[in-house]
Amino acid sequence: MDRFIIHKSSLHGTVEISGSKNACLPIMAATLLTDEECKIHNIPHLMDIITMVKILEVLGKQVRYERDTLIIKNRSKLNKVSFAAPYRLVRTMRASFCCLGPLLARKKKARVALPGGCVIGLRPVDLHIKGLKALGADLAVEKGYWVGRVKHLRGSHIYLGGPFGSSVLATANVLMAATLAEGQTLIEYAACEPEIEFLGKFLKKMGADIEGEGTPLIKIKGVKSLGGAECKVIPDRIEAGTFMAASLAAKSTIEIKGIDTSHLTPVVEVVKMMGGELKMQKGSCRLKSPSTLNPVNITTFPYPGFPTDLQAQFTACLCFAKGTSLITEKVYPDRFMHVAELNRMGASIQRSGPYAIIEGEEMLYGAEVMASDLRASAALVIAGLAAEGKTEVTRVYHIDRGYERIEEKLKKLGAKIKRESQ
Ligand code: UD1
Repeated sequence: MDRFIIHKSSLHGTVEISGSKNACLPIMAATLLTDEECKIHNIPHLMDIITMVKILEVLGKQVRYERDTLIIKNRSKLNKVSFAAPYRLVRTMRASFCCLGPLLARKKKARVALPGGCVIGLRPVDLHIKGLKALGADLAVEKGYWVGRVKHLRGSHIYLGGPFGSSVLATANVLMAATLAEGQTLIEYAACEPEIEFLGKFLKKMGADIEGEGTPLIKIKGVKSLGGAECKVIPDRIEAGTFMAASLAAKSTIEIKGIDTSHLTPVVEVVKMMGGELKMQKGSCRLKSPSTLNPVNITTFPYPGFPTDLQAQFTACLCFAKGTSLITEKVYPDRFMHVAELNRMGASIQRSGPYAIIEGEEMLYGAEVMASDLRASAALVIAGLAAEGKTEVTRVYHIDRGYERIEEKLKKLGAKIKRESQ
């Protein structure tokens, strides 16, 4: 297991943002909807992508890497289990659950392991199941797997809102299945995240008839079959936001390149309220941190609200602000594993239910801390860059799931960070 050793740093220079993991994974699942070849450019080189490649291979695909491109086509000989996504792979990555919709649509049967809970909360899949059942699929849990069968998927009017609003991957699952259903499907309360809009556009390139992707109401008219398609993965808005938080915490000036600024509006608003000076250009931005950060109140919401996937990183950053900030987590009320670790570094954060109150300290001290999940690990790295002394972040395999060469990118910006094998 690797760990990061980090010392207080000042950042300067330019960082290039990679393709979005969360946009890439559903597109990979969508290739199950066709027998033809698909090409995905600008893929990030991450553990989660490798896991999804393995799942596609089990499901009968042949996947080839050509630098930053994935070329996915059918294997010539399909084996008997080519509709089953095994637990050993699904348990490491929930996004694999969105193979369920495409498998039902294309193979009329599916066996996908229940992903289980994780450290950021319970993470049920009831909305996925509700949507696919509404399309006519017969689904039940058998020995830890969701097993589904259907003769013909039929279009339906589906309300996909849950207790915490829309669901990104449930929208992806139902949208993909509906492309090959008979008749029209309306998804109400669909997720509006850029990753869903991107998926809708990719499915249209494959020949799907879709209107309203990226809005809460998506209309899909089923088609008989889908063909191959090609796309370039959109930039990772969460990686971009993570570098913004790092730059603010380390009181630095950096340029962030390869971004889609239109996806970052809620984050940019928070950065400005904290006192950050932003110069936005097409595809890039320059961020200058103030010498003293303002405290702010942040509430996470589904898009276009402030992303839950940046809550931990901005919580870390606000530990260095002057004054009291309030974080309200509306998407995953239990997503506060980073709080105890930040407090071990001298932060003063009190958590109560979905709220965290941060008393800004301006100074934290390096400590040995443990990463618990992907975004919490990024928060600890950010805190380490701004804290006095040496910080050791253990279990960095979490961070490798979602950030491409983060320590190399940070080193290029002048950060004192190194990876060590334990
Ligand atoms: C996706 C992202 C993840 C991000 C999350 C919220 C990917 C691969 N992952 O995860 O990084 O944190 O969106 O932006 O894109 N819920 C239900 N029932 C369901 C499904 C979800 O109640 O069937 C709840 C969840 O527990 C959560 C909320 O809905 O409280 C939003 O979750 P959801 O949007 O589904 O997250 P994912 O799509 O799994």
